[in-house]
Order: sequence, then structure tokens, then C-alpha cells
Amino acid sequence: MRVSLTRACRFYTSPITPKPSFFSPRAILNQPFSSSSSSSSHSSTPKPKTPLFLKPPKYSATLSDLKKWHNWAKALASSVRSTFADSDNGPDSSILFRELNWLVEDSLEDPSLIPQLGFQNNSQSVRLRIGLDELYGLWKQRIEKRKPFQYLVGCEHWRDLVLSVEEGVFIPRPETELMVDLVSDVLVRDNDGLRDGFWVDLGTGSGAIAIGIARVLGSKGSIIAVDLNPLAAAVAAFNAQRYGLQDIIEIRQGSWFGKLKDVEGKLSGVVSNPPYIPSDDISGLQVEVGKHEPRLALDGGVDGLDYLLHLCNGTASMLKPDKW
Ligand SMILES: C[S@@+](CC[C@H](N)C(=O)[O-])C[C@H]1O[C@@H](n2cnc3c(N)ncnc32)[C@H](O)[C@@H]1O
Repeated sequence: MRVSLTRACRFYTSPITPKPSFFSPRAILNQPFSSSSSSSSHSSTPKPKTPLFLKPPKYSATLSDLKKWHNWAKALASSVRSTFADSDNGPDSSILFRELNWLVEDSLEDPSLIPQLGFQNNSQSVRLRIGLDELYGLWKQRIEKRKPFQYLVGCEHWRDLVLSVEEGVFIPRPETELMVDLVSDVLVRDNDGLRDGFWVDLGTGSGAIAIGIARVLGSKGSIIAVDLNPLAAAVAAFNAQRYGLQDIIEIRQGSWFGKLKDVEGKLSGVVSNPPYIPSDDISGLQVEVGKHEPRLALDGGVDGLDYLLHLCNGTASMLKPDKW
């Protein structure tokens, strides 16, 4: 299966469609949220990398040197043809061309100069967010190692957000955007009563779902975003902060319900997109996913259901004892 697109302008192929699990929220009981609950038990929090488009433009190159790199990168992309697509539904040359354009866009301080790449012998100097040597290295990794494009540029476009991601953190998929719409629908159906309640996103990764829901909940919302992976927790915190949601989203690093004792029986809603790939299937995934995305985010045990069942069983006691 090929799943395409993020938003209109960014495109990603993935052989895995997340199966969003959505646990019905219960009616609100406006319990105060324990701010004293620990956010992380780890003393050394990893520092997330800055996505390329946010880096300062401290490099420069002539347009003709940039064009030389661009021609080389295009030729490499062109040589792929449908090889990856045929072997594991990976990207074909046309997708790689598109990614190459986005890489140029994110690298240039002034992307309006892109049309000038067509001119030969242009000695005009342009400012870049990354050195030319690194650009050669990155594109080699894209084609030869099949490193996901999102890890090259350090971000993914998801809903109307641009979320920071890096190696070691799951790349949010377009399909998961639906979970935010589902929550939004539930909130409207419940006459907005659930807006003031506490929500939890289990296995938050980059924080995508938590951030999407926090924006739907509005300023009165409270959402706890949990991940076992310290790097994911750090990246989710970075993303929440970038969207000014640090007062609404609390990041906790730990395993599923382990860090949620203080909110047991008090939650309005629990959402999760847990790992669900059967262990033996991981080696057959698209290389970008199976070899580069964190196994912790993919592996759902022998039949893929380990975490789904654990979360379904555990959620009942976390939610408020009410009508849902
Ligand atoms: C499929 S990814 C989903 C990430 C994010 N929610 C999204 O949809 O983009 C699953 C996430 O669960 C996290 N995870 C795996 N085992 C966990 C555990 N025991 N407790 C908490 N999170 C866990 C992984 O680190 C990963 O970020």
C-alpha cells in the first residue's frame, strides 16, 4: 500500500497506516490537575535538534555551485526510477524530485531565489542554513541509505503544523490527523463539556496528536503527553513550546499508565496511536520505516496487539466513572 501526502505541498510515502485507537472520553469532573506530578524521572533530558528551516543562515554558496549540487542530486534521484517502489513501495524518482525541491526550500534563506538555479555561471552568492558539503552528504543518505526525508530536514508538515522530528522519533503520519478531527467531533457532540477535562495522549512521539488536541481544547484544556522514549518526550516538549502550548500540554516520560497514578479515574479522554506492527513484519517494511524509524514506535509484539490490548484494558480505570 502506498500512503501519500502530508499536506498539499509535502509528500511522504509509508507502508504503515497508523490504526488510531480512540477511547471514548467520559464526561467531565473538573478535578484540579496535580502540577506536582513529575514530568520526567531522567536527570539528563536529551536536547532536540533544530529543524533545518529554523537554523540561522550562516553558510553561503554561489548559485552556480548550488546548481552543481542540485544537478548532481537530481541525477541521483533520477537513477532510482522505480527501484525502491518495486522492492518495498518506497519513493520513486518523481517523489524524490519533489523532496529535493523541499530540501532546497528549507536550506535557502531566501527561497524566492530558487528559479535562478536554472541559470548557468551565476556567481551571485546566496545564504544557506546548511553547508554545501552537508547538502551532498544529506542527499547521499536519502538515496543510498534511504534515510527518511523528514529526518534530513528535521521536520514534518502535519495538519497545519510544522513539527520537529529527528532520528529516534516516530514521524507523524497524515492518517493520524483524523484523530484530532474525531476528538473535535466528540467535543462538539458533548456540548463542549469535555473541553475542561483532562486528556492523555499515550505514546505521544513528536507530540503531534497532543498538540492537535490541545489546539481544539483551547486555553482551558489540559493534556498529558506520555512517551517512554526520552528523546520523543524532549521533541514533543520542543514542539509544544514552539506552538505556545506548554501550559496546556504536560509531557511525562514513562511507560503508558505508569506516570499517571495522580490522574487515575479523573480523565475525560485518552487517545493513542501505539505501536502495532507484528514483530516479524518489521523487516519487510519500507526501508525508510523499518530501518530508520525507532523499533519502539513500531513493534507491537507477535501479533501486533500487545499495546492495543494493554491500553484498552488499562484505560477503563483511568477514565472518569461516568456515562461513556
Ligand atoms: C506509532 S508511534 C506514535 C507516535 C505519535 N503518537 C504519532 O502518532 O505520531 C508509538 C509511540 O509509542 C511510544 N511507546 C512505545 N512503547 C511505549 C511505552 N511502553 N510507554 C509509552 N510510550 C511508548 C513510542 O516511543 C512511540 O513514540
